[in-house]
Amino acid sequence: MADRKRVLSGMRPTGPLHLGNFHGALANWVNIQDQYDCFFFIADWHALTSDYEDTGKISGFVHNMILDWLSVGLSPEKSTLFVQSHIKEHAELFLLLSMITPVPWLERNPTYKDQIIQLSNKDLSTFGFLGYPVLQAADIIIYKANGVPVGIDQVPHVEITREIARRFNFLYGDVFPEPQAILTETPKILGTDRRKMSKSYDNAIYLSDTPEQIAKTVSRMITDPQRARREDPGDPDVCNVFEFHKLYTDKKTVEEINRNCRTANIGCVECKKIMAANLAKELAPVREKRAFYESRPALVAEILQHGDEKARNVARQTMEEVRSTIKI
Ligand code: TRP
Ligand code: SF4
Repeated sequence: MADRKRVLSGMRPTGPLHLGNFHGALANWVNIQDQYDCFFFIADWHALTSDYEDTGKISGFVHNMILDWLSVGLSPEKSTLFVQSHIKEHAELFLLLSMITPVPWLERNPTYKDQIIQLSNKDLSTFGFLGYPVLQAADIIIYKANGVPVGIDQVPHVEITREIARRFNFLYGDVFPEPQAILTETPKILGTDRRKMSKSYDNAIYLSDTPEQIAKTVSRMITDPQRARREDPGDPDVCNVFEFHKLYTDKKTVEEINRNCRTANIGCVECKKIMAANLAKELAPVREKRAFYESRPALVAEILQHGDEKARNVARQTMEEVRSTIKI
């Protein structure tokens, strides 16, 4: 359908995807596939901005990411799935945009300031890291995307993208629409230690986990911190396990747990077992689909090639327009 609005989003391939990634982004991507003309890509060049010293793992992560994507239901028939570094036009547009982007816009980017502090173990004082949003702007506007489904942390980047698009249009002529961030409500999924779920905190449940791994990780989850002993009543409202129950357990059981926890009629060990089993059941079709694609590498390669080609066609057209607009 030609009249559908175009949306685009990307993910950095920094490791296997977990439930936080799923509920924070992927689930929404899967849902909007019928509504929009979707472009989803693996931002492997963006992974270099922080992992430039250790590049050996990136291509494996890219391969894993496409398996994760396909296994949750991103569909090559509905969406254009591709890899950033396969479309060299992103780099050309990035260069051109870098000429018109004032450095202070990048220096006051809250994500930039935040990451420099968070990742203090890495030397991020590079040109590439400062320019991260410029590459992201190129990713987005080269496809003339109208919407960018992202988490709240990415809103500043979409804002910079709008500013860069506006500046380009002002300086050279109207080429780019100004994209809007598409924010969605996401459930509050925390890691086993109640911090944000993240590979680097070793507190995540992965989409590719087996039921055994799930049970093991769930057994380590911190529950209501006030509930020290089995006889103590608990408070589901402050319990991360209960948040998971709300997502994976049927309503009636959730209500029972809600009551029985408060009266100490159910213990955390049992409660977790129920949740882990339901979660494993929920993920069973995902694991099955993953196995299907894992055993068909040629098919996966073909899917990516097809996506790359579709993306490249659009990117090429835009770049022709860009070159003729700036007369170079
Ligand atoms: N910065 C995004 C992230 O860390 C990844 C990304 C790169 C992206 N380019 C993009 C997201 C373009 C949306 C659109 O998650
Ligand atoms: Fe949380 Fe369940 Fe323990 Fe209650 S019984 S504190 S809901 S894990």
